[in-house]
Amino acid sequence: MKIIAGNWKMNMLKAESEKLIKDIIPFAQASSDTVVAFVPFVYLETAISLAKGTKLKIGAQNVHWAENGAFTGEISAQMLVDIGAEYALIGHSERRQFFGETDKSVNGRLLAALKCKLKPIVCIGETLIQRQSDQTEQILNMQLKSALEWIEKAELPKIVIAYEPVWAIGTGITATSEQADKTIEYMKNWMIKQFGVSAPVLYGGSMNEINAAELLAQKHIDGGLIGGASLSSSKFGKIINAK
Ligand code: PGA
Repeated sequence: MKIIAGNWKMNMLKAESEKLIKDIIPFAQASSDTVVAFVPFVYLETAISLAKGTKLKIGAQNVHWAENGAFTGEISAQMLVDIGAEYALIGHSERRQFFGETDKSVNGRLLAALKCKLKPIVCIGETLIQRQSDQTEQILNMQLKSALEWIEKAELPKIVIAYEPVWAIGTGITATSEQADKTIEYMKNWMIKQFGVSAPVLYGGSMNEINAAELLAQKHIDGGLIGGASLSSSKFGKIINAK
């Protein structure tokens, strides 16, 4: 079973969001995979009520590390669980790039999500310069090590990692399926070495209705995190049906 997750980012208004949720529900219902939509905070409750009783899971695009307190503008794991959200995206490269997210804060958010039984998808990935200068493995080691600090072996299967090479996000350039598979295999081996077990790992970065089947057919790829193509129900539906 794979996980196919759509990251809507900061797109669409209420009516379009409602339509997209309604339009992707039939694909989720017909699929044996787990289908998740990461919708903007303000539309979470609407999406949750529309998806109620269906197989579509709803997640938030971020979650704060503290239980509560003086953190103006932030949303806690407990609040998300309170309204019925099941998933949270953590450490997306846009959060790291534009909002000062660090490996340490990613770890805090992950611990907070697990504590509240919110299912985390933690994003990891190297930049183009890092790949070109042969630093990919070193960067992935570092990001994984910090993200998974204080995590116990038994918690690994409750975590999902998304390998998202930064150079492939929103650029139309996908990692080749071999590149993605090899890197994900490397990440899984790293986790097995550290914990004796690996979390599932998704691929993300310009995945679309055309390249999805090949990427998802790779041995080590457990699903996809899709940005741009998740905003169209027909494209996202084709990705859900790809394989
Ligand atoms: P993209 O985004 O599919 O538009 O490249 C992926 C992501 O940011 O999760």
